[in-house]
Amino acid sequence: MNRKHFLKAIGATATFLGLPLTSVSEMKNEQLKALIATPQQVAGSMVGYADAPIDKVKVGIIGLGNRGKTLLQMLYWLIENDKAEIVGLSDLLERNITAALKGLENHQKKKPATYTKGENDWQNLAKSEDVDLLLIATPWRWHTPMAIYGMQQGKHIASEVPIAYTLEDCYRLIKTAEETKRHCIMIENCCYNDEELFVLNMIRQGVFGDLTHAEGAYIHDLRKHMLDETYYQGQWRIRHHEKRNGNFYTTHGMGPISNYLSIGRGDTYQVLTSMSSREMSLSQAAKRTNSSYTTIACGDMNTTLLKTANGKTVMLQFDVHTGSPYSRINKVIGTRAVHAGYPSRLYIDKPEELKYWGHNWLDDRAYQSMKEQYTHPLIKKLKSVSEDYKQGHGGMDFVMMYRLITSLNKGVPLDQTVYDGVIWSAITPLSEASVIANSQTVDFPDFTGGTWQKERPLEIMRSL
Ligand SMILES: NC(=O)c1ccc[n+]([C@@H]2O[C@H](COP(=O)([O-])OP(=O)(O)OC[C@H]3O[C@@H](n4cnc5c(N)ncnc54)[C@H](O)[C@@H]3O)[C@@H](O)[C@H]2O)c1
Repeated sequence: MNRKHFLKAIGATATFLGLPLTSVSEMKNEQLKALIATPQQVAGSMVGYADAPIDKVKVGIIGLGNRGKTLLQMLYWLIENDKAEIVGLSDLLERNITAALKGLENHQKKKPATYTKGENDWQNLAKSEDVDLLLIATPWRWHTPMAIYGMQQGKHIASEVPIAYTLEDCYRLIKTAEETKRHCIMIENCCYNDEELFVLNMIRQGVFGDLTHAEGAYIHDLRKHMLDETYYQGQWRIRHHEKRNGNFYTTHGMGPISNYLSIGRGDTYQVLTSMSSREMSLSQAAKRTNSSYTTIACGDMNTTLLKTANGKTVMLQFDVHTGSPYSRINKVIGTRAVHAGYPSRLYIDKPEELKYWGHNWLDDRAYQSMKEQYTHPLIKKLKSVSEDYKQGHGGMDFVMMYRLITSLNKGVPLDQTVYDGVIWSAITPLSEASVIANSQTVDFPDFTGGTWQKERPLEIMRSL
């Protein structure tokens, strides 16, 4: 692209992002250009979409590393109950396939086909007539290309998080889903955690009054794993931290929060601003361990703020560089109640009794009584399934897989749409763009074709 055209393109970009043109010269244009896309028309036609019922869902899994292995285990109960069958497994590493087959043989008689011949062999799995649903648990850069190719082969897609990390890819996913009429969801397990579902159930039953603010995070010390040469295949994860700066892991916080705030179902994110602290901790750990990854672009703490069309605000944090104890914060504030996580605490306003006003969490007994009253029906329903099948992240991975497969069995809309996965993931490139532009506000694109304006119930509140 010649200089004149390049500047014109960046000018269009700045307008789209809602940034003043004067700031553009200060940005690292090449980096910014890689993150964004000119706005595109999308139809919103996958809202409420359901396919014909599939009695037994034939599943292919791409990526059987740390996460893929767990996803496979979460299917064992469904396999034993004739709801699902594994028909194909793909990974670059033979040892991962061997381990997966060994685990599976105790739960399924028929051995699945395997695809381990290099980087593109997964395409043969995607093409296989046998497959209904492709589960993608590979490094981030593969999620969008695998999802798009899979849909083009007529397969439903459930991808690990994030489903995309450029806006261009966000639009490509939506367009392909709308054109092919295939489900394309991001499997965000934290939406299915006991605590998040308890909070959501209280919100839906009016305990919180009108919501005004929420806070979420992914705070998880990943230094050891990122610096270990064998933990993530090819150390793919630290490479993102080497080159990029922003909030890379938005969805564990934003999935549940977006459900609380009815995003895509009556409200939408409209504007975002993001700030990263300086980087210190990961590079210091790298030096201490003689790692070659000593230059890190991503700040230790990223804080992103969002505002919705209906005036609610969200604070979202990201820190995987420091030793801060694990937290997704999980705070939500309404006119009548407040919840904060880590550990879970609840405040209930009693406007009729003035003396109760003011900053006291419920005591243990009162909290437990609320917990019993408002535990999500889904958690109650799956209580009887043996804990042996629910080893993923304290049970939430199983609940998520159960919902995905049984929704497909019954031919009803899934709990998430392609729009949800894209909206929760798009916070990453938008945060990066804001960080590059000195934390200036960035407009949040409407990925739903305007369908967010219509209030509709959350699928996750529906019993199956
Ligand atoms: N939802 C969660 O709680 C959760 C937890 C961990 C990881 N994840 C997500 O899961 C994904 C995988 O993370 P991980 O920790 O398992 O990483 P990993 O490196 O352990 O596993 C990735 C696997 O993908 C395989 N792979 C890479 N390229 C491939 C290709 N072209 N074809 C076939 N296989 C290929 C690798 O060989 C490897 O086994 C990431 O997107 C991560 O964000 C989600």
